[in-house]
Amino acid sequence: MKKILDMLTEEMQKAFQAAGYDGSLGRVTLSNRPDLCEYQCNGAMAGAKQYKKAPIAIANEVAKQLADSSVFQEAQAAAPGFLNLKITESFLLSYLKDMEADPKFGLAMPGKPKKIIIDYGGANVAKPLHVGHLRSAVIGESIKRICRYAGHEVIGDVHLGDWGLQMGLIITWLAEEKPNLVYFDENYQGEYPAEPPFTITQLAQIYPAASAKSKEDPDYKARAMEATYKLQKGVRGYRALWHHIMDVSIADLKKNYSSLNVEFDLWKGESDVQDLIPDMVEYMKEEGYAHESEGALVVDVKEETDTKEIPPCMILKSDGASLYNTTDLATILERRNLYHPDMMIYVVDKRQDLYFEQVFRCARKTKLVGPETELKFLGFGTMNGKDGKPFKTREGGVMRLEELVRDTKEEMYKKIKEGRDMPEEEARQAADMVAVSALKYGDLSNQASKDYVFDMERFTSFEGDTGPYILYTIVRIKSILSKYKEQGGNLAETSLREAENAAEKALMMQLVGFNAMMQTACQETAPHKVCAYIYDLANDFNHFYHETKILGEEDEKKKEGLIALLVLTRDILETCIDVLGFSAPERM
Ligand code: ARG
Repeated sequence: MKKILDMLTEEMQKAFQAAGYDGSLGRVTLSNRPDLCEYQCNGAMAGAKQYKKAPIAIANEVAKQLADSSVFQEAQAAAPGFLNLKITESFLLSYLKDMEADPKFGLAMPGKPKKIIIDYGGANVAKPLHVGHLRSAVIGESIKRICRYAGHEVIGDVHLGDWGLQMGLIITWLAEEKPNLVYFDENYQGEYPAEPPFTITQLAQIYPAASAKSKEDPDYKARAMEATYKLQKGVRGYRALWHHIMDVSIADLKKNYSSLNVEFDLWKGESDVQDLIPDMVEYMKEEGYAHESEGALVVDVKEETDTKEIPPCMILKSDGASLYNTTDLATILERRNLYHPDMMIYVVDKRQDLYFEQVFRCARKTKLVGPETELKFLGFGTMNGKDGKPFKTREGGVMRLEELVRDTKEEMYKKIKEGRDMPEEEARQAADMVAVSALKYGDLSNQASKDYVFDMERFTSFEGDTGPYILYTIVRIKSILSKYKEQGGNLAETSLREAENAAEKALMMQLVGFNAMMQTACQETAPHKVCAYIYDLANDFNHFYHETKILGEEDEKKKEGLIALLVLTRDILETCIDVLGFSAPERM
């Protein structure tokens, strides 16, 4: 379907042409002055110079052409040359009916869908998830859903950190605590046990302990590095332990992510591309892209137009070990070979922007990807506490994601229990759902690149620009609809009618903006645009609700029209929260 602004623009272009002016002047936008008009066109001002005429004269001539328009009920020339516009209720209704009949509410599908890989989550196996990982998961999940809804083929990859020193640290810890484990017997030839020699709780304690010890004890650290090296070289027992660490840790990660409605299509990680590295390095050397510098192998990536220093991209350290960069480059290669994506989007802390600049330049220079493949870094800001510093626990430690989710659920449960008489289990379930909306909306409503302040009190409030407020609005609509059904009404038999008051028209005009908003949110990978839209929509709905008798309406036809409007509002709100990655309970 065409966007409503495009249809209004077409009508306006005809009027400009009919008045003898260039049609392209007739661009219609939303009004800057909602107190004066609904839409506006500034084309007369732009045309004044070209036609050497006073803008107000042009505006008046164009307005005259619109006297009988079925689209504009009012087109008023206003000094110095604006065209202030109001649309007819009938045009608004017909657009809304077309949207209602379309499964995507009029969102036009791309002629050629893109294949997009989103790299997000980025959890490090066997290390606790912290709040930085929350942002990547929440933003990435939403972008995945937005782009999918907009008709693209999207693959989400968690890209685990599963090949680093943390693995060596854990193995070293186990070797000291349980030296008799068969994994440490160099002469052992048989199969290794299927059961892991630790639980997730134990594993969660091992990493912090081993990491702390390695900071105090250089010898211990050296042994951990040695273990990492042996693991990477393929020592059997170490590989077997690594598989156990992966299994136990991934099961736990899946639980954590699913409590946040985050799902990945691919559970790949740094370890998956290790086999590609030797050939890739060879290729970079042979083609003359990589050269030696102070013992290390590097690719120069600086460009003449740089205004800041962009250091070379290091491919191998002087001891021949590969790095984070090497893995990311090999991953680009693997993704190209396996999926042929049009685009790869990385949702990572913005402090890694220079790093990704180097990696992307290196991938282009060495032709790991062609010019047709877009590489996009979507860097997000830091989640701070109220003191403006990175969010911490009350004791001042790094806040773990699990704790944050648990605290928010607890807070939400208290709030839900306070005001309502609800059975225990239902209250818990509702609290869980509303808490996810509080966390996610609190994050997503900010432009991703900005830092934001996590404010439990504000995020969990039922009032203001919050997730719970949006859910509360949806629940309110659902409750009216179920009462309507209880009273014998049938939702399938209702149909939209022309707006009869200003609040109803305002709600309808907000609804018709859905498809253009969603298209922009996808093009700009900007979930905050969806948040801003549903906040306005919820406000318009609540205003309408306070102004209008709905279930009490005596005229049955009119009541059906109002109910149909409620259904559409609910569906659009629910579509939006679904792409944001949360959902609404039946009651709260
Ligand atoms: N594991 C990394 C971290 O915790 C994030 C990974 C981001 N993705 C990537 N392809 N480098 O910082």
